Amino acid sequence: MKKSFFIFMLTCTLLSLPIIQSHPIRDTDRNVLLADTNYYIVPANRGEGGGVTLAPGIEQRCPFGVVQEDNESKKGLPLNFKPGNTSNNRIVHESADVNVLFSGKFASPCIEQSVWRVEDSMDGYRYVSSHAIIGSPGKETLRNWFKIEKYENDYKLVYCPTICTECRPAYCADIGPMITKNGRRSLVLNNVPLKVRFKKA
Ligand SMILES: *[C@@H]1O[C@H](CO)[C@@H](O)[C@H](O)[C@H]1NC(C)=O
Ligand SMILES: *[C@@H]1O[C@H](CO)[C@@H](O)[C@H](O)[C@H]1NC(C)=O
Repeated sequence: MKKSFFIFMLTCTLLSLPIIQSHPIRDTDRNVLLADTNYYIVPANRGEGGGVTLAPGIEQRCPFGVVQEDNESKKGLPLNFKPGNTSNNRIVHESADVNVLFSGKFASPCIEQSVWRVEDSMDGYRYVSSHAIIGSPGKETLRNWFKIEKYENDYKLVYCPTICTECRPAYCADIGPMITKNGRRSLVLNNVPLKVRFKKA
């Protein structure tokens, strides 16, 4: 009796878990977003700045910050996505942990810095910087993992890593622009998501 009740409760618990459906991200041509392929991240709407690039943003020093082009007709720099889970045929899925890195050549006085990472600015903002490493899921690399989530008919960038089963981030946030002192649209963890699309480079 007790045992069957336990099994009954267990079954209820399992049935009430959300069904995790994994949807591939689509680029602006409706093709699936692939790992190790070059894309521009561009705003979905007009009047919200240009594509994502690398420049001094919140901090006027190396490593550079991840910012948007001021000119909305500029696409920014090409980027690659590298899923933490590599068993998905190179297809990048919604809400999957990914490393994000600039893949194009760019002029920067900063050495070899291209992989996105969450950093704390001196005046207390959390912003996207560029000096992470690729892979090595774990506590030390927790700030290096981002997610792309569906946002209305487009997407948003999110920081909320679940790559590591024994560690959880201290906070989760949607990523959006903040106009910094130098007039740049710096990407920060401000819960005001920038609605984006992925355009094959
Ligand atoms: C934005 O870029 C386009 C194409 O490069 C250029 O024609 C235009 O003059 C630029 N606008 C501004 C305000 O710089
Ligand atoms: C990786 O993805 C595969 C296929 O979607 C899935 O079955 C597996 O559970 C995932 N592994 C992890 C660690 O999330």
